[in-house]
Amino acid sequence: MDGTVAAAMPVIEVEALEKRYGEVHAVRGVSFSIPAGSCTGLLGPNGAGKTTIMRMIMALVQPTAGALRLFGKPPSALGRSMRERVGLVPQEDNLDPDLSVRQNLEVYGRYFGLPARTIAERVPRLLAFMQLAERGGAKVMQLSGGMKRRLTIARALIADPELIILDEPTTGLDPQARVLIWRRLLDLKREGKTLLLTTHYMDEAQRLSDRIIIIDGGRILDEGAPKDLIARHVRGHVVEVAKPLPRGFSEDGLERNDIGDAVLYYANDPAEVTRRLPADAAYLRREANLEDVFLRLTGHSLRQGE
Ligand SMILES: Nc1ncnc2c1ncn2[C@@H]1O[C@H](COP(=O)(O)OP(=O)(O)OP(=O)(O)O)[C@@H](O)[C@H]1O
Ligand SMILES: [Mg+2]
Repeated sequence: MDGTVAAAMPVIEVEALEKRYGEVHAVRGVSFSIPAGSCTGLLGPNGAGKTTIMRMIMALVQPTAGALRLFGKPPSALGRSMRERVGLVPQEDNLDPDLSVRQNLEVYGRYFGLPARTIAERVPRLLAFMQLAERGGAKVMQLSGGMKRRLTIARALIADPELIILDEPTTGLDPQARVLIWRRLLDLKREGKTLLLTTHYMDEAQRLSDRIIIIDGGRILDEGAPKDLIARHVRGHVVEVAKPLPRGFSEDGLERNDIGDAVLYYANDPAEVTRRLPADAAYLRREANLEDVFLRLTGHSLRQGE
């Protein structure tokens, strides 16, 4: 019976959490709970409050208001054990540039007070897991962006944490480097780790997360499984028609969203839109995705300026 209760206990519980930085109301009353063994994605544009939420969870920033529990306790009550149970991949890599790849992991292991034997066993395993085995002796400054990110993830895993918090694990990386990280994060999920990640890539959120929390302007707009969010807010298909719209095209009764140089039309059956278009009209037809959900909820794009 006790086991059932323990398994059902959320790893993170956040209630009416707020953070003000002077005039800036960065987080405006956010509540959510993260079940063990799940992957939750905080999806939102620049300045949404994602990093601030993570920093409050990690007790690196003091909340202005609200309650927060990690493994059922306030972070302050967890003390040092929290650092071992939670692995953090911060938004900015903070590796030691003067040390080698291997030394970065070893120093971190010693910081956690891991026995030398454990460090000696884990470091090569983590290097292999993150495909850095050949780079163990390299200096951090000799690594590519993707390798640095992988090393930061390996470092977060050194104490074998139950919860891994990743702030934009793949931002700025090329597609191949991103796919490699995604595979490893899915491996960690299969091992039963709890993952909380932030991203402004909707494909990343959709691929990795069991549940997505859409956040903008310090508030949660909605949360749910990717496919449920799509079903709730947009129809299944999108027909994108470039401007100027074809002459004689009737938009009557169609659900639309003007994105500047094109208009998006949402429909369960794309033919509801395409049959109204002249034969020579140029359009794109695709399935609806989380970007459409975000646009629908906020009226602006997830990735501003792109
Ligand atoms: N230390 C700070 N002092 C003052 N304002 C801050 C501080 N940290 C964050 N902010 C502000 O709080 C808001 C939320 O910032 P935060 O970094 O949490 O957003 P984010 O969602 O992580 O954005 P990004 O995708 O760009 O990383 C922004 O308006 C930001 O300027
Ligand atoms: Mg951030």
